[in-house]
Amino acid sequence: MISKILTFFRLSRSIVSELTNKEKMTLVINIIFSVFNTFLELASIITIVYLLLVISGQQIEESGIVSYINAFIDPDQLIISAALLMISVVVIKTIFQIIYSFNSEKISSQIMNRISMSLYNKFINYNYNEYLKENSARIIRILSQESVKIGTNLISPFISIINESLLLIFVSIFLFIYDPLLGVVVYLVSLLLIFYFSKLVTSRLQRLGKEVTENNTKRIKIINESFRSFDIIKMFNFQERFKQVYNEYADNISNSGFKSQFYAKLPKSIFELFIFLFLFALILILELTQNTELLISYLSILAVSVYKIIPSLNKTSSSLQSIQYFATPFIELTSYLKIKESKPKILKVSDFELIKYVGVSHLFDKENKILDNINFEINNGDYIGIYGHSGSGKSTLIKIICGLLKPSAGEVFMDNNSINYDSLHNYFSYVPQDPFIMDDNIITNITFNLTNKKIDLEKVKSILVKVGLYDKFKDKLYESLGDNGIKVSGGQRQRISIARALFFEKKVIILDESTSNLDPQTESKILQLLKKLNEELTIIMISHKMDSLINCNKKFKIINKNIEIT
Ligand SMILES: Nc1ncnc2c1ncn2[C@@H]1O[C@H](COP(=O)(O)OP(=O)(O)OP(=O)(O)O)[C@@H](O)[C@H]1O
Ligand SMILES: [Mg+2]
Repeated sequence: MISKILTFFRLSRSIVSELTNKEKMTLVINIIFSVFNTFLELASIITIVYLLLVISGQQIEESGIVSYINAFIDPDQLIISAALLMISVVVIKTIFQIIYSFNSEKISSQIMNRISMSLYNKFINYNYNEYLKENSARIIRILSQESVKIGTNLISPFISIINESLLLIFVSIFLFIYDPLLGVVVYLVSLLLIFYFSKLVTSRLQRLGKEVTENNTKRIKIINESFRSFDIIKMFNFQERFKQVYNEYADNISNSGFKSQFYAKLPKSIFELFIFLFLFALILILELTQNTELLISYLSILAVSVYKIIPSLNKTSSSLQSIQYFATPFIELTSYLKIKESKPKILKVSDFELIKYVGVSHLFDKENKILDNINFEINNGDYIGIYGHSGSGKSTLIKIICGLLKPSAGEVFMDNNSINYDSLHNYFSYVPQDPFIMDDNIITNITFNLTNKKIDLEKVKSILVKVGLYDKFKDKLYESLGDNGIKVSGGQRQRISIARALFFEKKVIILDESTSNLDPQTESKILQLLKKLNEELTIIMISHKMDSLINCNKKFKIINKNIEIT
């Protein structure tokens, strides 16, 4: 039991530690609101009880709170003025409650929004080496599901718990003043019920939450993979296999989901039963002891308090459950928030004479060294060809050359000055074998003008002419190229990718086997284009076909983790 409570407090502490100072301030203000709200709630109970006692014709003693109420009451119009008092307090309370709930929802959604944005920011500024180790389904799940749920599943319940606990404490204090024994009993019963439920379901809920999280990742993964391998699925009739896997994950999610929903609703019924059992016992005792007068005043005060206590107990317990259910994703989320982001180093580049790489080594894991202490240079205007057998490290080398992948060791000098590795990418453009194309038009695919800023359209057009795409696309400049560029051919992809490098005035274009899956004619056209571009740009290309490297003035052969330069 103690450890469960500690877990809750630990979780609360880590929620609070994720908040900014401003958010903490708003939360404190909200708690102050909540205290007011609770006072008014209590005042409404008192006035209702007072009214009930007046109606039932009870003798009301002139003491404590009653003497304050009597100040508002006209003794000749007892019932009417007691009713008026009650309705005024309830109206004020309602207005306050509306403001309070508006505020709590706003805070919760602002916090969620801020965390969701900073999560995306973390991801987009991921270090490339870290990104290689990451799993896309996990990132999609965190960004599209968890970060959205943090408001309703964590922050709102957290605020509710503070609010409802205050109410429970206040109502109990009130009952305590009214009758100490009654107050203590109600308070203890409430606490017991809440802890009993937490104990009953905490570990189950955490397990269910974990199951849903894990299965969600797997489900997103299988959706992603079935989309990417749609042609394979068709050709090999793999539909049934994919369906089975998908169904399994979906079943797991739905099973855990419905159980957690059930646990969330269970307390309500049980609480009500307990409270009525309690009332029943009270009636029995007072009836048996022939204490009718006390019975009426006890019953009215209890009835009203219970009317407040049940929803409050219910909300506290379901909020506790929601937080426990969300514990696993939240812990994952906070560990993700702690990742150090590498802010882009943006550099306005000018022409260079020489880039020198000294002592470059790389290993992805401890055992396998891919490149071992190699040295080479790139001169302005070079046309460098890289070759070597499959798996020798060509792609790894060019990712290091262009500043994408940080090598395990090595230094880079730009015109004999040491250059920060993180700024190196500003000089380079990288064209992979199958360049990425967005589901957008050709202009956006070249300029990445995602926010509709004004761009130099003439510049884009002249680049389209230069890379030989203008005639084909001049009437379709604003037509989408399809999801992952399904409407453009392999050769066009290369050209679009090259056009992007020209638009952003990169000094070096690197191509990774870009031409190897093109037909000989298209390949030779791209090679001609590259030769022409070499008049103003430095070019580096990987190819396993020596014919493709015909225009190169330098060749790097990767062999035994080293390079031979010819
Ligand atoms: N992200 C990674 N994590 C771990 N190992 C990797 C990673 N990327 C590549 N490797 C390993 O590094 C070695 C070199 O890979 P690389 O892709 O550079 O080869 P390559 O010369 O480009 O081969 P290919 O001609 O087939 O494209 C391979 O053994 C590969 O398994
Ligand atoms: Mg490769």
